Amino acid sequence: MAGVNFPFVIGNWKMNLTPYESETVAKKIVAGLPPEGLPIEIGICPSYPAMERVQRVIAKTSITLGSQNMFWKEDGSYTGEVSVRMLKDMGCHYVIIGHSERRIHLRETDYEVNKKIRLALQYGLVPILCVGEKFEERQDGKRDVVIMEEVANALKGVDKFSQLIIAYEPVWVIGRGEAIEPNEACSAIGLIRYTLKDIYPQKTIDDKIKLLYGGSIDDKNITDFVDNEEINGVLVGGSSLKPEVYIGMINNLAKHVS
Ligand code: PGA
Repeated sequence: MAGVNFPFVIGNWKMNLTPYESETVAKKIVAGLPPEGLPIEIGICPSYPAMERVQRVIAKTSITLGSQNMFWKEDGSYTGEVSVRMLKDMGCHYVIIGHSERRIHLRETDYEVNKKIRLALQYGLVPILCVGEKFEERQDGKRDVVIMEEVANALKGVDKFSQLIIAYEPVWVIGRGEAIEPNEACSAIGLIRYTLKDIYPQKTIDDKIKLLYGGSIDDKNITDFVDNEEINGVLVGGSSLKPEVYIGMINNLAKHVS
């Protein structure tokens, strides 16, 4: 893994690739990266069945493995769920928690999100908490309230951590093919920082919490978003499935930050 102050580019492959396809995409990404270390934190979050194959491909690279989800109980009779201990055993470092697709399609609540974050931290995983407003909420002028509530509810009782990542992802921009204006992302992320000030000392926020933007990021717009102090990186869906685009994003960003 690269240094702690480098920008993050975390790919979320969602439910798109078989284990074989995941391995193929991972190999192409690894082959496309320059051999020398990059000033970027690169992560990939494949589906559960593909994790082992992807982990084998990225094992000796600077790419870090993440999960798209986990269950909120440690162990037990929870048919179909995947536990934090299983993720640790697979070599995961990150776990995405509270992605809007889970909140919408799986009815995941802030309560569950909070439990998952606490459990992930207890086991030393780095949670990537996703927050963001839906289109109707935005139309109703509720963007700020939604963001502040999602952050505050997710972090109740969360006090000990070495790193925490929060991604602002406006739900209506995910998969749209066109990102929001970078200054809008900055304003939402500024609001998250403001909300965090009620919960943590400034030093904790500065040293341990990273704030990302997610929503239709590609190789052309990535540098517009990581061009300021406010945004520490990006969470990428569709573009992370296309090796040439993902590599393009990383290379463009590397040129930009070095
Ligand atoms: P997208 O997805 O890059 O395809 O818009 C982002 C996300 O869901 O994290």
